[in-house]
Amino acid sequence: MNDHSPLRSAWTESLERGQAPNAAALRAHLRAVHRDHAGFTETCARACRDAAGRTSYDWLAEVVPEGIAAQVLDLACGSGPLLKILHDRKAGLRLTGVDMCPEELALARAQLPVGAARLMQAEAQDMAQIPDGSVDAVLCHWALTLMDPVAPVLDEVRRVLAPGGRFAALVDGPMEAAPGYAGVHDLIYGHVQAELPGYGVVDLGDPRVRGADSLSDLVRAAFPDATVTVETGVVAMEGPANDVAEAAAGFFYAAFILSPARRVRMLADLAGLLAIPGTAQGRFAMPINRLLVTT
Ligand SMILES: C[S@@+](CC[C@H](N)C(=O)[O-])C[C@H]1O[C@@H](n2cnc3c(N)ncnc32)[C@H](O)[C@@H]1O
Repeated sequence: MNDHSPLRSAWTESLERGQAPNAAALRAHLRAVHRDHAGFTETCARACRDAAGRTSYDWLAEVVPEGIAAQVLDLACGSGPLLKILHDRKAGLRLTGVDMCPEELALARAQLPVGAARLMQAEAQDMAQIPDGSVDAVLCHWALTLMDPVAPVLDEVRRVLAPGGRFAALVDGPMEAAPGYAGVHDLIYGHVQAELPGYGVVDLGDPRVRGADSLSDLVRAAFPDATVTVETGVVAMEGPANDVAEAAAGFFYAAFILSPARRVRMLADLAGLLAIPGTAQGRFAMPINRLLVTT
């Protein structure tokens, strides 16, 4: 389904009542977004590249050393784009994808060659099917930000990693790193808050994951003996302004709760904001952080 009807869930209903949503409501909300719009992250993230021509998937995949046969887990693999990149580039990798959304896993199954990866439906907080110390690298693209509680996720990553293993996650970067990004954020949240005032005061996931320092502190507490780094990058896209606005909005879960009429207004405003003066083209730049934990 891709009609962008406004999404309501136990999570949005809690906000409407002025209450803080609980973890079950968060997961139900995320499942509903991904049930109705499966594959949307891949569509948006594949369209954006950094100055070296890499997508954020490429940048994250670089933490897996070339030419080694290793067990790699894509945590919250969604429709499988990162698994596909790893499969295509790194012969010999043994790949596993975990996600809690069956519609996303179905897309992953459809786009990956048969036998390329083992796919499992599970929540990141409880990956009991994966044995202790069995994984050389855990990658997580644009999903750690959504996970609350996040501490059990980090405990699970530590449990499944083999000694010397790596954990890398691609998450939101600092707004000021990408020119114009704060304006895009404020425009979208302005429209969303006109319909649901609490959205943004409370947001999806644990807010500590969104800041480099708070993320480092969180991860160091879970991996006290590891080396932890957070690097900032920027990915961007250009194209017809309306298309760029649609893709940019796709990075904001908040945009999925808009009524159809408000969504049309938001996209028109966003296309205007992103327009390159004197042309029908638009440009959107997105700040990203890459967390790397080497145990
Ligand atoms: C923004 S999408 C990213 C998907 C994919 N990694 C990508 O970048 O294309 C977030 C994904 O995280 C999954 N997810 C969110 N919370 C999760 C959790 N607690 N356990 C497992 N999967 C989760 C969702 O189902 C969704 O597929």
